[in-house]
Amino acid sequence: MPVTLSQQIQQFYDASSGLWEKVWGEHMHHGYYGSQGQERKPRRQAQIDLIEELLRWAQVQKPQQILDVGCGIGGSSLYLAQKYTAQVTGITLSPVQANRATLRAQAAELQAQTEFQVADALHTPFADATFDLVWSLESGEHMPDKTQFLQECCRVLKPGGLLLVATWCHRPLPPSLRWSEQRLLQDIYRVYYLPYVISLPDYAEIAQTLPLTELQVADWSEAVAPFWQDVIASALNPQVIWGILNAGLPTLQGALALRLMSRGYRQGLIRYGVLQGIKGAKENA
Ligand SMILES: C[S@@+](CC[C@H](N)C(=O)[O-])C[C@H]1O[C@@H](n2cnc3c(N)ncnc32)[C@H](O)[C@@H]1O
Repeated sequence: MPVTLSQQIQQFYDASSGLWEKVWGEHMHHGYYGSQGQERKPRRQAQIDLIEELLRWAQVQKPQQILDVGCGIGGSSLYLAQKYTAQVTGITLSPVQANRATLRAQAAELQAQTEFQVADALHTPFADATFDLVWSLESGEHMPDKTQFLQECCRVLKPGGLLLVATWCHRPLPPSLRWSEQRLLQDIYRVYYLPYVISLPDYAEIAQTLPLTELQVADWSEAVAPFWQDVIASALNPQVIWGILNAGLPTLQGALALRLMSRGYRQGLIRYGVLQGIKGAKENA
């Protein structure tokens, strides 16, 4: 029986990643449907478009050493390795994901450019100033200490390197969260093994305490919210339902919770936050 949050997250992804890949592919993150969510497109294309929009938003040049924090089965890692002919290291809590990402890299002939490890984002094994891009796509919501998470990302960035984070948030406060909002958040936390989420202004406040310059945040909720309708529609298929039932209770709960996310966006409670900053020289001064 897993006891710690890390063990619960590990087991959740160990058990559900195979099914996710089979049904929805290698990207375990939202899609981008135009800035107002107005574009209709296949889900996988929308997921790739999200990566491209993030790269465009942050004007990513040509990173050569990339850390993918919370890499899943390496969807972004392989994409970035190929696009930039870069070296990419991916970390995840799930050994099943790390193994699968390694196999996918071999199949794509990207094994020389990529490495996948089981490591905790709050205490990574990397030296200071190792990477010129630290990329975190939908892992921040799992972190039990958001400050330590961003501090660690910053520590391993080279001066001049870019931090680029996309993460689930709740709406800005005030007004404080109503009881019904807190209840919906608790339901989402429970099924997706999230300790808690914070608002985008909270992330910005944390980032301001770090040696980051050119800090920018943006709310992309409207652009990504249509994703959940797509996922729900594709889950209503007998083969998928059978797969979900076979993958065990946590996966079943995760599937049942798809509607919770959709409701969270509709109510304006769940927000999709993106954050970028350049590591300044402050730390080395
Ligand atoms: C929703 S998946 C996103 C995967 C990937 N970024 C993608 O977009 O396909 C969340 C990922 O965060 C990872 N994760 C959660 N908490 C973590 C932690 N403390 N350290 C490292 N990885 C973590 C999980 O193992 C999982 O790979």
